[in-house]
Amino acid sequence: MLDSSWQPLCASTDLQNGGRAVLFDIRYGGQTCLGFAVRHEGAVTAYVNRCAHVAMEMDWRPGHFFDESGRWLMCATHGALFEPANGQCVAGPCVGRSLISISCSEQNGVVYWQTAHNLEAVVF
Ligand code: FES
Repeated sequence: MLDSSWQPLCASTDLQNGGRAVLFDIRYGGQTCLGFAVRHEGAVTAYVNRCAHVAMEMDWRPGHFFDESGRWLMCATHGALFEPANGQCVAGPCVGRSLISISCSEQNGVVYWQTAHNLEAVVF
């Protein structure tokens, strides 16, 4: 049973391996921005949509983060590649740095993300 820190995000079937991300509104460090969730090798991971190089959104079109191979997350601005499983930059100008991770869980066909001390849900 997930506690109230977990927010429903999407259906599990909305995320396909190497496919389009689901974007969601968050407040990170007091700023309203976007998070994104992807599926890679069966596992769902989520990150703040902010490159580890320059604080810019990464998708080249909304929800498109994977490179052509579907293996790496790619920043549209300068082409940094990130490991989908842990957000670590493996190539490009920010090698060794990581995306800001958001905890995820999947239960009964639903994907959830978890709020934290510096990561809040946006209430409309
Ligand atoms: S802003 Fe992402 S690689 Fe430069």
